[in-house]
Amino acid sequence: MSIRNLDDLLAEGVSGRRVLVRADLNVPLDKQTGDITDDGRIRAVLPTLGALTEAGAKVVVCSHLGRPKGAPDPQFSLAPVAGRLGELLGTAVHTATDTVGESAQATVAALADGEVALLENLRFNKGETSKDDAERGAFADQLAALGDVYVDDAFGAVHRKHASVHDVPARLPHFAGRLVLREVEVLSKLTGDPERPYVVVLGGSKVSDKLAVIEALLPKVDRLLIGGGMCFTFLKAQGHEVGSSLLEAEMVETCRNLLERSEGKIMLPVDVVAADAFAPDAAHDVVPVDGIPSHRVGLDIGPKTVAGFAAALKESACGEATNARTIFWNGPMGVFEMPAFAHGTRGVAEAIAGSDAFSVVGGGDSAAAVRALGLDEKAFGHISTGGGASLEYLEGKTLPGIAALEN
Ligand code: 3PG
Ligand code: MG
Repeated sequence: MSIRNLDDLLAEGVSGRRVLVRADLNVPLDKQTGDITDDGRIRAVLPTLGALTEAGAKVVVCSHLGRPKGAPDPQFSLAPVAGRLGELLGTAVHTATDTVGESAQATVAALADGEVALLENLRFNKGETSKDDAERGAFADQLAALGDVYVDDAFGAVHRKHASVHDVPARLPHFAGRLVLREVEVLSKLTGDPERPYVVVLGGSKVSDKLAVIEALLPKVDRLLIGGGMCFTFLKAQGHEVGSSLLEAEMVETCRNLLERSEGKIMLPVDVVAADAFAPDAAHDVVPVDGIPSHRVGLDIGPKTVAGFAAALKESACGEATNARTIFWNGPMGVFEMPAFAHGTRGVAEAIAGSDAFSVVGGGDSAAAVRALGLDEKAFGHISTGGGASLEYLEGKTLPGIAALEN
């Protein structure tokens, strides 16, 4: 790969230079309290930031948080993230109240060597996500003016053609941070020649979001286990009634077609937890997939399915007792945020953690689930910080943020 990385930059020397670091500090916040519920993405960027401060750089960190609509919106302020980042770094983080305006300029100008500043949410500016090259470029000019060099450590955002990801590197000497480098190294093992058997576990709510990755993975994997909300569209395609469970009616035919072409590689639930309502305290029962009551909603995979999936992770060469050697998991198996419907996700996560395969947990919700359920992160080979980004990488798509670093 023709990408220069942090070691190349450190070898050049960064003391006294302003290093603009694009991070993905888009962490989940508690809807009531606004507290950070999972700081995994903040911790993931510490190696890069620590190396830069130690080497005496003036570190200017920028990130998005949530999806504000191109204007300041207090509920998406990065201020709470600055607090947590400072605690983890063990040093004060200077915060700007805007992204590229007077506050940002003054904050950066006042930085001493080895200090860290955090700009306000990139998406408070229309130019960040604009589809118009000129509008994005104008914002990228302002952002690039705050740094002498650029480091991309925002793996979770490399699939976005946004100013801070795609256009700033065209304006400054650019380098991949430690996190981006590690993520790409790991994921390229999965797209290259993964050790077999190779088993993929997919969950999450929508088939339509996962269709491209299913298409790309089917020829490569030995087994594809499907749970989460998306399993109901597949179950419908198998001929089952799914009650009021999540269903993408327009995808049923596509799922039927995938099942026909899958050569038996796709494994679906045989039982689910069906509840009276989408609520933590809803009455619920385990039912077989051919017995989902019409008024009930499936919120988790059932225990027989968990056992079957766990066995498949062990005996994955279609019946032969050969342990999976490579596992990729993306998407929870049920509504794990509600304890009554977390057993499926926990069971599958524990089976993956207990396997001696090289296991990769793909981003967002599944990474958060590992930590929320109190599982040992070290039991997994790699926990990606990118949800959409890791899926698009596995699809073989060109990622704008990676392509920009290659130039
Ligand atoms: C994510 O959480 O998936 C990344 O931070 C990207 O955010 P986005 O999906 O809002 O672009
Ligand atoms: Mg996303």
